[in-house]
Amino acid sequence: MTTITRTLPAAFSRFRRLRRTAAIRALVRETRLSPRDFVYPLFVTHGEGVRAPISPMPGQFQISIDQLPKETEALRSLGIPAVLLFGLPAEKDELGSEGYAPDGIVQEAVRALKAAAPDLVVITDVCLCEYTSHGHCGVVTVEGEVDNDATLPLLARAAVSHAEAGADIVAPSDMMDGRVAAIRPALDDGGHGQTPIMAYAAKQASAFYGPFRVAADSAPQFGDRRGYQMDPANSREAMREIEADIEEGADIVMVKPALPNLDIIARAREQFDLPLAAYNVSGEYAMVKAAAAAGYLDERLTTLEVLTAIKRAGADIIISYHAKEAARWM
Ligand code: PBG
Repeated sequence: MTTITRTLPAAFSRFRRLRRTAAIRALVRETRLSPRDFVYPLFVTHGEGVRAPISPMPGQFQISIDQLPKETEALRSLGIPAVLLFGLPAEKDELGSEGYAPDGIVQEAVRALKAAAPDLVVITDVCLCEYTSHGHCGVVTVEGEVDNDATLPLLARAAVSHAEAGADIVAPSDMMDGRVAAIRPALDDGGHGQTPIMAYAAKQASAFYGPFRVAADSAPQFGDRRGYQMDPANSREAMREIEADIEEGADIVMVKPALPNLDIIARAREQFDLPLAAYNVSGEYAMVKAAAAAGYLDERLTTLEVLTAIKRAGADIIISYHAKEAARWM
């Protein structure tokens, strides 16, 4: 047994030596963020020449389809490989029918994106809340409850209509039980057996979605989403949700929101070997933007620190409204 008795002079410890220059720090860095990690969310609306600012999310816009080629050009030049599409319908109804209409806003946007940028990975959010008059993610019964099983065929129809339009990946975000099991065979039967499903697997009922509900005009008109989205207090349940989606056929699983869930991202990374996505949601973005505008935080440093932490926790894919700015800053 040898005992080391020598005390290192603190100024020349190994920690200090490896932090001495920016070049050395870069060489020994364990987590490297790349624009290739990012998915950029887009809100698409009807009309022409529309670029409407989303007030709680400075720098984000609801855009019309004619604006998409400009977006794809920017994403290509920044090296961002993918988008996640949300749609604002012309009209909302009880059953969210524009969500699965072959000529709905998202379906048309997918066609336009694939025509403008065939190599861009187009991911579509599959949910009813943007399309329903009541703003819930599923069908609502006369008693005012979200009917899980009545919702499944509509989600499956939406997913198939997205795949038909050319979506590369479909991403159910509704949190109904059994939706992946409903969507997978519907895609297969529709000739889309090769279309992957990215499941919002561990999605919490989070206060951080507030700004998104302004962006997508999807706030529930009564009640809340706690009956179908997860309790943020539960991490074992998050693992069961992820496991269920994988068993049902999910190809990529997601944890959402990201920043309050670094432990869940890390746990999911340990426990499952599928590609893991994390959604740096609207409230996380709005928080940094607001603090930066007030002069309380350095936006660049804060954003890169947050995104690096999400990757370090174990996310392979990061969905972020900061993607374009971050890619520029890197
Ligand atoms: C639709 C959906 C939501 C988000 C993504 N898909 C909102 C919600 O569940 O209320 C939130 C994304 C964000 O906050 O950036 N169900």
